[in-house]
Amino acid sequence: MSITLSVIKADVGGYVGHSESHPDILAKAREHMDKAKKEGLLIDYHVTKCGDDLQLIMTHQHGEGDEKIHKLAWDTFVDCTQVAKKLKLHGAGQDLLSDAFSGNVRGMGPGVAEMEFEERAAETIIIFMADKTSSGAWNLPLYKMFADPFNTIGLVIADNMHGGFSFEVHDIKEHKKITFNAPEEIYDLLVFIGAPSRYMVKSVYHRGSGEIAAASSTQRLSLIAGRYVGKDDPVCIVRSQGDFPAVGEVLEPFTLPLLVEGWMRGSHHGPLMPVAIEDSTPTRFDGPPRVVALGFQLSGGKLVGPRDMFADKSFDNARQQANDIADFMRRHGPFEPHRLPLEEMEYTTMPQVSEKLEGRFIALAD
Ligand code: F6R
Ligand code: MG
Ligand code: MG
Repeated sequence: MSITLSVIKADVGGYVGHSESHPDILAKAREHMDKAKKEGLLIDYHVTKCGDDLQLIMTHQHGEGDEKIHKLAWDTFVDCTQVAKKLKLHGAGQDLLSDAFSGNVRGMGPGVAEMEFEERAAETIIIFMADKTSSGAWNLPLYKMFADPFNTIGLVIADNMHGGFSFEVHDIKEHKKITFNAPEEIYDLLVFIGAPSRYMVKSVYHRGSGEIAAASSTQRLSLIAGRYVGKDDPVCIVRSQGDFPAVGEVLEPFTLPLLVEGWMRGSHHGPLMPVAIEDSTPTRFDGPPRVVALGFQLSGGKLVGPRDMFADKSFDNARQQANDIADFMRRHGPFEPHRLPLEEMEYTTMPQVSEKLEGRFIALAD
C-alpha cells in the first residue's frame, strides 16, 4: 500500500511570547484535520506542537506536494491565525508570508517534510520537530544515523545496511542539489554538510533498495522573505528498523546537545536539547533550542501512536549537558561564537549604526 506522510508546520502565534502554542490553536487545527479525515482526504492525522510551532502530521494517498493536502494545511494555518489574533497571541500568522494560497505551501513560509513509500509489514516512523533553530540542525544527526558506525552499529554488522545510504544535499543559497554515496564519499559529503547554514541534507536513501529513509524540511524563512521573520524551526521524518537504523540508532545522535543556530532572536549558537513534547517550552533566553521526537507504527496509513521518544530518562544526561552548555555560552553575552557571525544574524543594527558613525571612521595609515 502506497502511503504519503506529510508533516507541515508553521508558527501562527506564540503563547506566551514565542515560548509555546496555545491549546485553542491546537484544538482548532484538530477540527480541520478531523473534517478532512471524515471526508476521506486524509487517512489519519496527529496534531501537536513544538514550542510555538503548530505541527500537522498527516497520512494520505495523494503523493508529495499535493495541492489538496497543502491547501488543507494552509487553510488550517489561516484559520488558526484567526484564533491567535482573537487571543492577541504574539506574532499571529508570523510564518504565513503570503496572503493567498497558490497551489503549494513550499516557499510560502510553512515548513514541509514529505515522503511517499510502500508501507512495510511493520512501518516504524520517527518524526523530529525542532524549535528556535534552523533547517541545517538535522545535518549532524542524519550523518550520524546513516553514515557513522560509531553511532549506528547496523552499518557494520547488519547485512541489509552494510551497503550504506546516499544523501541528497541542497545548496539553499544557489538552489542546487547533489547526491553523495556513503561510506565512500563521506569526506566530500562532510565538506558541505559541515556548513549547515548553507548546505542541508534534504533526504537520505537506502542504496541497496533505493527506498527513502529520511526527509527533512529545508526552507529558510529569511531567504524566502528576504528579511527576518522567525527561525525555520525544521522538521524531519525518519523511517526505522529493518533496512533502516533501529529506533535506538535513530535517537542516539541526540545524546549530543549539538550547537545549532537560533535561540534568542535567531542570532545565537546554542545547544539543541532533546525533550518531551510538554517540555518544548523554550523560556531561558528564548531557548535553548529544543527537539522533540514522536514515534509511530503505521497500519494501513493509520498513525498508531505516538510515543514521546525523548520522554525517556536516558536523555536526562543530554538535557543536563545542554543546560551546562547553555550557561557556558550565555556567559559570552553579545560576543561570538555565542552570537552568530554578522552575515548569519537574523536581527542586526549594523547598517543603521554604521551609517550613523560613517563620518567617524578614519582610514588607518599603512
Ligand atoms: C527566536 C524567536 C525569539 C524572538 C524574540 C523577539 O526564533 O522567535 O527569540 O526573536 O522573542 O521577538 P519579537 O521580535 O517578536 O518581539
Ligand atoms: Mg514565534
Ligand atoms: Mg518556533
